[in-house]
Amino acid sequence: MIKHFLTTEDWSQQELSQLLADAGYLKDNPIQNHLTGKSIALLFLNPSMRTRTSFELGMQQLGGTAIVLQPGEDAWGIEFEPDTIMNGDAEEHIIEVAGVLSSYVDMIAIRAFPAFKDWQVDRLDHKIKGLAAHASVPVINMETIVHPCQELALMMTVQNHLKTVEKKKFLLTWTHHPKPLNTAVANSALLVSSKFGMDVTLLCPNKHYLLDDKYMAAAKTQCEEHGATFTVTHDIEAAYQDADFVYAKSWGALPFYGDAKAEFEQRKPYKNFIVDGQKMALTNQAKFSHCLPLRRNIKATDEVMDADYCVALEEAENRLHVQKAMMLKLMGKDLTTQNQNK
Ligand code: CP
Repeated sequence: MIKHFLTTEDWSQQELSQLLADAGYLKDNPIQNHLTGKSIALLFLNPSMRTRTSFELGMQQLGGTAIVLQPGEDAWGIEFEPDTIMNGDAEEHIIEVAGVLSSYVDMIAIRAFPAFKDWQVDRLDHKIKGLAAHASVPVINMETIVHPCQELALMMTVQNHLKTVEKKKFLLTWTHHPKPLNTAVANSALLVSSKFGMDVTLLCPNKHYLLDDKYMAAAKTQCEEHGATFTVTHDIEAAYQDADFVYAKSWGALPFYGDAKAEFEQRKPYKNFIVDGQKMALTNQAKFSHCLPLRRNIKATDEVMDADYCVALEEAENRLHVQKAMMLKLMGKDLTTQNQNK
């Protein structure tokens, strides 16, 4: 069976910890030749700055080749629906795309944001699952309804600053934004912080901004497995109090999914959820991070972004290291064993 990286839910904490250790080694020793002759296709159905740069550069640093494709722009548009009459814009089906690319390259990565029409459909993550079903090489998630590469970069950053992370207070706070954004990074933040046994607090304006039950339930279960707590609150001060790590993200209210105008009315009163110095002062000298991109003075103030405790750039850099570790793992290159054998 092919091992993919679609979601961290399919990977144990031990496996992810090993990847983070490998990423640490790669941070100190970036240029390797373990993937000479190997290649990866990067399918971007949505824009990117960090993900594209870090994957392309990472593959180059490992001696391999990355090929970027933007279906619908510089490559044919892709149909993902099974058993459909293709009389829309898409010129080819994911069945052929997966088959052809599998015959050319050794890994395929995809960014496929949800369609923002019907959450009951989007929550099934059918685009990446369709690709994985028809590919004969490992598939990597570059953000769909979860963002597992970001999860690894976040945990690498958290571990660097907190050392032992179990039972440390991880605050995921919703923030305002002019548009209802994807819930992927928020879902992922819950998954990874709970998988590593942190005391997780989710702060959001009201019940409309709760995340999908699937991720809330997974976080609760994983926290319980570690004897840690999972707390949901709408109280800003209580949430920030004694936090060890503050993570911010904006996302759209799921009950208003597909109706950006109605959703905007919901979020209007909550500009006060911005991360600012006053809120950070309530924490246990917490570090602050965000996956980026971030609108300054909407999600976090200049004061926070420019503070020594802001580690968002470190998290972005860590994308490079963790993705290299992941590509090596999927290609069967056990970096740690190789290093130990030296
Ligand atoms: N955080 C992140 O995935 O950034 P990009 O959207 O720029 O790739």
